[in-house]
Amino acid sequence: MKYLHSQGDAFPDGGLVLGIESSCDEMAAAVLRGGREIISSSVHGQEGVHSPYGGVVPELASRDHVRVVSDVVSAALSEAGLGLSDLDGLAVTAGPGLVGSLLVGLSFAKALAYANDLPFVGVHHLVGHLVAAEVAGKGDGDVGGDDLAPPYVGLVVSGGHTALYRVGIEGLPALLGETRDDAAGEAFDKVAKLLGLPYPGGPAISKLAEQGDPAAVNFPRPMSKRPGFDFSYSGLKTAVSVELAKRGGLAALSEPERADMAASFEAAVAESLVGRASRAMRAEGASRIAVVGGVAANGRLRKEMHAAGARDGFEAVFPPMNLCTDNAVMIAAAGTRLLSRGVRDGLDLEAFSRVPIGESPWREQKKGREKDQERSQDEERESGTGQPVGAAS
Ligand code: KG4
Ligand code: ZN
Repeated sequence: MKYLHSQGDAFPDGGLVLGIESSCDEMAAAVLRGGREIISSSVHGQEGVHSPYGGVVPELASRDHVRVVSDVVSAALSEAGLGLSDLDGLAVTAGPGLVGSLLVGLSFAKALAYANDLPFVGVHHLVGHLVAAEVAGKGDGDVGGDDLAPPYVGLVVSGGHTALYRVGIEGLPALLGETRDDAAGEAFDKVAKLLGLPYPGGPAISKLAEQGDPAAVNFPRPMSKRPGFDFSYSGLKTAVSVELAKRGGLAALSEPERADMAASFEAAVAESLVGRASRAMRAEGASRIAVVGGVAANGRLRKEMHAAGARDGFEAVFPPMNLCTDNAVMIAAAGTRLLSRGVRDGLDLEAFSRVPIGESPWREQKKGREKDQERSQDEERESGTGQPVGAAS
């Protein structure tokens, strides 16, 4: 086991990788063969923990992770019928996310890697979401993504992120546009709260919307008249709250009216996402878009994106539903791709709450920090304010 980041030995084709994900309010573990074949997947959610608060309470999330991490990893291994000694590698989310939550999965993974002398690598959560579209679906997926490979355009729509990327054959995903304020999933969660629905808001709004009329309220389609690929959802959330106030507040709303509000809001989000995505597809001349992250589980978005694809000549690939929301299959998949390229992390890997997308951007960040430290020491020496090198202190 190496203690520091290094370039490792060749990784076996068809290698078995255990992935661990704990960046927010799901603790998940999964075993994948060859980066595409799901052997097992275990996800422990925390809806009951956070729903009274209408959003994730970070301290409660990390405490629950500590409670279940060992059981969730054991469940993934026993479902796979494997022991730790059967594994070829380990992958864990290093960021972005809630630091307390990330640290639980990361520390557990480090201990497993150290005790079992396993190659180990940290994964960027959003790269995980993107790669989920390349994994063979098991379960309720509508389009198998098992033949998807770069290049493609990736639309990440989750609770924390809404962004479009160009995913190339080589190099890092390149950002084309992102939200200027709230993420699409965050808007679902906030509007659900306004409509008196539980957390997480996406599934609750979607269910209620089935009974409503999406054309009942003409909510604004955010950014539709602006050039470029950026998104914005905080204005839409405000529009819902203004409409509610106009109708005398939530208590004054009949059940069909509440369903109309949910359906009209959902339609506005879906239309805005599809509009930006179609524009990116035209500009990039791309033929496939992978739509990933929790909001990609939304039925209306799936339907409208497929329809836009049929109209404009592109194919929309969605991961199976269970791989849209946070899971560890996507982390094992992204980790396998790194391990196969010889990338290894060491026990000095840290958790990052914010980190730019990339295969392993923490390395660049660390190098940058070391350089900054060296620079400031040089400056101190030059200005005579610091301790002379080698001086006893
Ligand atoms: O990717 P994810 O599980 O966690 C993050 O990395 O953020 O995404 C969670 C988000 C939540 O905001 C949730 O409300 C939303 O995905 N979501 C949905 C649906 N299922 C989950 N939004 C709309 N429709 C859904 N069916
Ligand atoms: Zn996520």
